[in-house]
Amino acid sequence: MAQIPLNDLSRTDASTAANILRAVADIIDRGSFLKGRFTTALEQRLSDRFEGRSVLAVGNGTDALYLALRAVGIEAGHGVATVANAGGYTSGAALRVGAHPIFVDIDPLTAQMSCEALQQMLDDQPSIKAVVLTHLYGLAGEVQAIKSLCAQRGVILIEDCAQSMGASVDGRPVGAFGDVATLSFYPTKNLGAFGDGGAVVSANPQVHQRVAQLAQYGWGTRYEVTVPGGINSRIDEIQAAVLLEAEAELDEQNERRRAIVARYASAMTGQRYMLSDDSTKYVGHLAVMVTHDRAGDVDRLAAAGVSTGIHYPIADHRQPGWLGLVPAADLPNTDWLIDRILTLPCFPGMSDDEVDQVTAALASL
Ligand SMILES: Cc1ncc(COP(=O)(O)O)c(C=O)c1O
Repeated sequence: MAQIPLNDLSRTDASTAANILRAVADIIDRGSFLKGRFTTALEQRLSDRFEGRSVLAVGNGTDALYLALRAVGIEAGHGVATVANAGGYTSGAALRVGAHPIFVDIDPLTAQMSCEALQQMLDDQPSIKAVVLTHLYGLAGEVQAIKSLCAQRGVILIEDCAQSMGASVDGRPVGAFGDVATLSFYPTKNLGAFGDGGAVVSANPQVHQRVAQLAQYGWGTRYEVTVPGGINSRIDEIQAAVLLEAEAELDEQNERRRAIVARYASAMTGQRYMLSDDSTKYVGHLAVMVTHDRAGDVDRLAAAGVSTGIHYPIADHRQPGWLGLVPAADLPNTDWLIDRILTLPCFPGMSDDEVDQVTAALASL
């Protein structure tokens, strides 16, 4: 039996591919490979999505987190509140600026940062200068409540929207609530490039300016370093052209992703549930089921031709390379959920037959 993959990046439709090939030919003709008109157009298009905020396209989502933390003034000795179940991207960026992650437990029904746990942590840990709220799996976190907790204490709020491009809360896009937001255009993302890319979205022009300097060697003017710790992090014109095409299809593709996950949700049996929502708070980046019998379900789904994965199998405070670098943490909900999550196939190019096959396999668990 043919196995349905978790994702299949080879299913770009022919007209999109033709548009991209035309744009690439244009880029080659002009010989303008970086910081050209496609990058400018992409930044403008994204700015329109984020209520007119300033957008700087950078090399990838990991750099975007690093640059955002640096640009808002996070440095050695500062604490950065984050969750431990979101793949470690924020923890890695915090360590890279010399700060330390401080782990906050999650709500097991949503897998997102728990507001109550964050409040407690902010009261207990005065070193916390920033909170990074990752809208995990494409599901918006409790951004309004977390924003007001941060505002009361003068703590910076960064939204990591790598997985939640297009999601909204009360009609406003996630990424437009915090002081800064970060994006990743890794190919599997809802807004995915044909390579690496990322962006930083800033509410404050001074933060935008600082991100721009830090992403371009720390230069104030050409060849003059005015900010230490600068890096080289730029998107290339070809990726920007791909993303302009992809952006035009994003909302429709998010609708398709949401519809796929809604089918799965309707097929849940026993104690199983999906970490999803049927409103626009969710854009179906990953279809993650919670199950009390993961090993058994993996086998039964594989026998029914359904691939599965785990996002993510190791909590940040248990990563072997970070032992001694990140604080020990008592995170009962995080630990509980990590043993029970299972990712199911979900991508806009899935055929109706494939969705039916996965849904039937879930219904028979
Ligand atoms: C939530 C989250 N943040 C950050 C990143 C890092 O992005 P990149 O792979 O573009 O560096 C990713 C994914 O890769 C992600 O899923």
